[in-house]
Amino acid sequence: MDRIKITGGKRLKGTIAISGAKNAALPLMIASLLTSDTLTLKNVPNLADVLQLGRILRNHGTDFTISGKRPGKKQMQGETFLLTSRDIWDTTAPYEMVSKMRASFWVLGPLLAREHKARVSLPGGCAIGTRPVDLHLEGLKKLGAKIELEDGYVIARAPRGGLKGGKISFPLISVGATHNCLLASVLARGETVIENAACEPEIGDVARCLVKMGAKIEGIDTHTLKIEGVDQLEGAVHTVLPDRIEAGTYAMAVAATGGDVFLEGAVPETLQAALDLMEQAGVTIKVKKGGIQVSRGRTKLKPVHVETEPFPGFPTDLQAQFMAMMLRAKGTSSVRETIFENRFMHVAELMRMGAKIALSGDRAEITGVDELIGAQVMATDLRASASLVIGGLVARGDTIINRVYHLDRGFERIEEKLSACGAKIERLSE
Ligand code: EPZ
Repeated sequence: MDRIKITGGKRLKGTIAISGAKNAALPLMIASLLTSDTLTLKNVPNLADVLQLGRILRNHGTDFTISGKRPGKKQMQGETFLLTSRDIWDTTAPYEMVSKMRASFWVLGPLLAREHKARVSLPGGCAIGTRPVDLHLEGLKKLGAKIELEDGYVIARAPRGGLKGGKISFPLISVGATHNCLLASVLARGETVIENAACEPEIGDVARCLVKMGAKIEGIDTHTLKIEGVDQLEGAVHTVLPDRIEAGTYAMAVAATGGDVFLEGAVPETLQAALDLMEQAGVTIKVKKGGIQVSRGRTKLKPVHVETEPFPGFPTDLQAQFMAMMLRAKGTSSVRETIFENRFMHVAELMRMGAKIALSGDRAEITGVDELIGAQVMATDLRASASLVIGGLVARGDTIINRVYHLDRGFERIEEKLSACGAKIERLSE
């Protein structure tokens, strides 16, 4: 199993090109189930999760190929995926697949919409929380779906003639339930209104792609989506938006080590809450043409308080990295995690490196320390792993991160990107 070795203490300096967003690429790929034409997705990050979803879609009947990269810019451009779901020959998403990648549960909506039936395994819990899917199912029921649970599977059927528009009002904001219901409603008969929809930039990206495919959607990027169902969708060409979580992670890495890095392609509006907070902490952020410049000189960071929230609030997917960054502050910062009940797995690992963090329920107090010391640590989930990388970059001596496959699920070529900015980081393959 691969490990990553980091020798800390180097300031980061240079340019990092931000990849396409994993959390947009996944539902965009799933959207290809809605048409028999080809959906061409550009700037898709080359990540374990994305390739795994490609295999899952093949199982449903999608012809999935990766075309060449743009000549001359091989390193900086994502992949181009061609997805054609001419015929869906299997409407079952088995446990072995959904349990490995939760986002594959989102095939439920499109399969129901196009094939009028689906059998999709319940995903189960994961390292960051129980993560139920009740909101997905309640939402789809509002579109007329009949849903039963059997042997750990959701067995769903559309009424005769297919799903019909309805009013979905979510009691709490869920990214996945919004994706699932949006992807189902575009082919439902009549109008659907989704209230209290998540408005994460990745949902806007999917909605814009669906519009290119012929869907009728109003209220994109807001908490209320209005969808007028159409009979069929067509192929389209769409470029995946840049990954705000990757950009935020590197911004926090620079803030932690000190230095000066241009995040090429980063879109400031998609991570404003994180940028504001970093500025409050004393990090210099400059929005420039084509990206964001992040720098910190020799002055220490100031402590700040943050609560994770749905977009446009501070993202839970940056909470772990934020903690690692604030270990460099003079004083005590605090975090309240409001989205997932168990998203502090990185704390014990950071403490192995000398971090001072006190946990109490959904809150954590992070007290800046004079130095972190390199150690052997274990990646527990994707974003937790990123916080360990930040810890390793500032720690004295060597840090070895085990279970790197978590990182590979969501950070494209992380060693390469950080090395190019002066970090001493290498992959130890076994
Ligand atoms: C998406 O997960 C992301 N995953 C997560 O990123 C991200 O952390 C999360 O949204 C929040 O922003 C992808 O985009 C692939 P939710 P999702 O439904 O859709 C509760 C990463 O590291 N809930 O918005 O699963 C749920 O338990 C991943 O890239 C219900 O109660 O998140 C949680 O407390 C990790 N019932 C809250 O809502 C439901 O039916 C928000 O979850 C659904 C959700």
